[in-house]
Amino acid sequence: MRDTANSTVWAKLWDGPTRIFHWALVALLGFSWWSAETRNMEWHRLAGYSVIGLLVFRLLWGFFGSGSARFSSFVKGPAATWSYLRTLPSRAYAATPGHNPLGAWSVVALLGVLILQVVTGLFSVDVDGLESGPLSDRVDFDTGRAFAAVHELSFTALQVLVVLHVAAVIFYAVHKRADLVRPMVTGRGKFQSDPGLTFAPLWRALLVAVVAVGVAWWASKGFRF
Ligand code: HEM
Ligand code: HEM
Repeated sequence: MRDTANSTVWAKLWDGPTRIFHWALVALLGFSWWSAETRNMEWHRLAGYSVIGLLVFRLLWGFFGSGSARFSSFVKGPAATWSYLRTLPSRAYAATPGHNPLGAWSVVALLGVLILQVVTGLFSVDVDGLESGPLSDRVDFDTGRAFAAVHELSFTALQVLVVLHVAAVIFYAVHKRADLVRPMVTGRGKFQSDPGLTFAPLWRALLVAVVAVGVAWWASKGFRF
């Protein structure tokens, strides 16, 4: 739809699967944190397996999903990142049909730390050996405790990244008057001209979701049949 007064177009930016991934991840991370704090470890592991499912989904979607979700469309080299960085002080805003080069690195960092978080969780054991992840029996107690220490550290790293992530969204809203949140909710963004993005069919999302659920379930069994 063209907004003639401002000469901009509203076009689809984020597909449903990417948006569901994002907001489910936010909810599940909050729940993982709450369940660990209150020592509801059965719930904590369940939330963790769900996050594993989401991560497997997103990694596959980064290769087989819609144009704006593909890693090849948004992960850029240092030169592109640097030249984007230099446009940050300017108040002018040119919408990118996907993540901008800097945002892309924050996505990569968030996904990387999340992978570290769930992998270390699978091997973790608590101080009295009562609560553990399903792979902790593959390592000795001290190694399981070392995994638990990294699990705690990576959670701190995750918190730092999330604060930066939300601060970036606020920066764009205040400094550049760009609402990034609305497209992540409704799927549609405002552009100077139609970005002409391509979107993957629903059947592909369902197929990828089945694989993701399968891997999450298998992880919960400690990768045993
Ligand atoms: C636990 C907290 C959060 C985590 C782990 C997280 C993680 C992520 C990830 C991984 C992406 C990339 C999406 C993709 O391509 O799949 C993303 C994008 C995004 N997130 Fe979050 N997020 C969190 C909280 C929030 C909150 C609270 C907001 C709103 C204020 C938000 C707004 C956005 C927006 C607007 C984008 C798209 C950015 C762009 O236009 O490039 N996120 N987030
Ligand atoms: C979304 C991903 C996850 C987050 C954000 C998360 C976060 C946390 C946090 C904050 C703690 C408390 C650390 C402490 O202060 O002692 C914890 C402990 C623990 N988590 Fe996770 N976790 C996640 C995934 C998992 C997974 C997938 C498993 C295994 C199935 C797991 C197993 C454990 C265990 C066994 C502990 C107890 C370790 C200890 O008491 O030292 N976590 N987790």
